[in-house]
Amino acid sequence: MIQKTEPAKKLAGTLVMPPDKSISHRSALFAAISSSTSIIENYSTAADPQSTLSCLRQLGVSVHTEDQRVEIKGVGRDGFKIPDAPLDCGNSGTTMRLLSGILAGAGIECELIGDDSLSARTMKRIIDPLKEMGCAIEGREQKFAPLKIEKHSGVKPMRYPLPIASAQLKSCVLLAGLFGDEPTEVVEAIPTRDHTERLLDLKTEPFGTGKIIQSSRSDLLPAQNYQVPGDFSAAAFWLVAGSIHPEAELELNQVGMNPSRTGAYHILEEMGANLTQTNSAFAGKEPVADIRIRPAQLRPIELDPKLIPNCIDELPVLMVAMCFADGKSVISGAEELRHKETDRLSAMAEILNSAGAEIELQEDGIIIYGDPEFTPRPARFNSYHDHRMAMAAAVLSTRSVGICEIEGAECTSISYPQFWTHLHELTQS
Ligand code: S3P
Repeated sequence: MIQKTEPAKKLAGTLVMPPDKSISHRSALFAAISSSTSIIENYSTAADPQSTLSCLRQLGVSVHTEDQRVEIKGVGRDGFKIPDAPLDCGNSGTTMRLLSGILAGAGIECELIGDDSLSARTMKRIIDPLKEMGCAIEGREQKFAPLKIEKHSGVKPMRYPLPIASAQLKSCVLLAGLFGDEPTEVVEAIPTRDHTERLLDLKTEPFGTGKIIQSSRSDLLPAQNYQVPGDFSAAAFWLVAGSIHPEAELELNQVGMNPSRTGAYHILEEMGANLTQTNSAFAGKEPVADIRIRPAQLRPIELDPKLIPNCIDELPVLMVAMCFADGKSVISGAEELRHKETDRLSAMAEILNSAGAEIELQEDGIIIYGDPEFTPRPARFNSYHDHRMAMAAAVLSTRSVGICEIEGAECTSISYPQFWTHLHELTQS
């Protein structure tokens, strides 16, 4: 689908963010391996978290949904049924990597498949440590889906220094560790999102400037009631849209504010954005708040590469913000962006170039020469079927002088099905 966007005269209104994608996946997976019934409130209806639910159903887990309320009857660590067809993870890297940790740990004979984008993303990062733990998992060319998992003779303990700052990798190893009699330890030098250890209450100790997280069969996995907060990664599009548009008055309600996710909030504040948090509270174990956004003159910024994992999904829209800052901004150490649903560094460089921004694409980042007077050229942007590309291009197009077109715009349903309706509401009110 090609979505046409008109320049926005103003952006005004109050939005409730869609449920967090990362926490939706985890709550469903953790409920499935507990031994009784869990209720998840505000589960995401987006395509990726729905892929997790359909895989769980194939594994014999009873999943009952009523709007955004999900009831899952846990089968315990050893209760999965061997599926009679491949488990289709769709476009979802989190489904494939976290579920592989659980199924490889449990030794369930199965195959995991994904769409073209997921089948082109490296799974070597999870195959290698899972094998080292004694799990039986193979991939096409030893690095891609389809992944085949077999029975094994036991999960061996391992101390694993994370070679890449990836929460999916960390979670995969810790989830496989839940099937070992001796603890698996993951050593994390640079913090990544901590939903897995937070929701499962895993033992965590400081280690140097980072931490060590442990998991083993002795960790209790109680059925629990989960309350999924609004998705900070979805909110980030509006944090930027409201900051760069001179006629913006935006309020976002119930946004997840887990400190391991909110790097973009602090980066925008450092750039001079006018953001205010109110009504801080907790949704289950996760902090939430309402956010108020008003326009601001943005300053350029040179991002500390250590902050990249804390804003990895928000970098595309932060690049849009940088186009409107007063000078040169630099993102480096962000090579991971090339391994997402598409190569997000190249795709964003193409989008920003088509809009007439002054940029230099680097191997592991981008340099952006911002200008407060920047007016994006009306253009047709290719989303490469990547939800975050489509939404970043839409935010950019709100400041254009003419009609822009976004190709493959339906891909926003991967994480934020209401995105186009929300954009329409904000420009019409
Ligand atoms: C996620 C972790 C991140 C992020 C993805 C969701 C998660 O991926 O980009 O959208 O839920 O753990 P990496 O761990 O590969 O960086």
